[in-house]
Amino acid sequence: MSTELVEDETQFYCKAKKYWKDVPATVDGMLGGYGHISSIDISGSKKFLQRFLRDGPHKMGTSNALDCGSGIGRITKRLLLPVFKTVDMVDITDNFLSKAKNYLGEDAKRIGNFYCSGLQDFSPEPNRYDLIWVQWVIGHLTDDHLVAFLKRCKSGLRPNGIIIIKDNMTQEGSVMDEVDSSICRDMDLVRKLIRQAGLSVLAQEKQENFPDEIYHVYSIAMR
Ligand SMILES: C[S@@+](CC[C@H](N)C(=O)[O-])C[C@H]1O[C@@H](n2cnc3c(N)ncnc32)[C@H](O)[C@@H]1O
Repeated sequence: MSTELVEDETQFYCKAKKYWKDVPATVDGMLGGYGHISSIDISGSKKFLQRFLRDGPHKMGTSNALDCGSGIGRITKRLLLPVFKTVDMVDITDNFLSKAKNYLGEDAKRIGNFYCSGLQDFSPEPNRYDLIWVQWVIGHLTDDHLVAFLKRCKSGLRPNGIIIIKDNMTQEGSVMDEVDSSICRDMDLVRKLIRQAGLSVLAQEKQENFPDEIYHVYSIAMR
């Protein structure tokens, strides 16, 4: 388990909130100085998502998507808005959501809702989303909160809807990052928490062509 790394839950959340408050509302800020890998990330995500947009048993609708831990909307802009009619964004940092309107430009009018909330406190509207995208934010939730959040996301899905988590994974065990107050887990634990939420994994893929020095990044689709 990784939650044993969290000695004080209130501190764990407060520290993260404080960290993100001071981060510039830019693509580089969203990616901790790795802004240059954004295009590779988005291309990999497009490829991963494509299998659920083609005709077949897993084909999903393209009405509404939810971007969780959206930041300024880096993913909303380049991955979600080109596919979905409307996108909702949820993030704990109000400054990022305010800047999103400008960053998204003309397309900001297709954002249905900007929710300023921690995912630990957020409940997606039931039966609303074809896709719930959760990238580079699960480390900010404790194990119990992640499971509970995924259960609420499951209720937020429309028929044939899916949840995609894309995040850093350690090779083995959990590692705490004291700077941004997040936990990086290994794949076994993430898959176990997904199962505990009552979800089944449909596909999993490693992001290719990322720099060698960063954690491995995986996309996992589930419903
Ligand atoms: C590494 S950035 C990733 C942003 C975006 N997903 C992307 O890939 O461009 C992490 C984001 O999670 C947000 N965040 C941190 N803790 C959160 C929490 N408990 N609930 C919701 N959002 C949170 C931060 O404000 C920040 O926007």
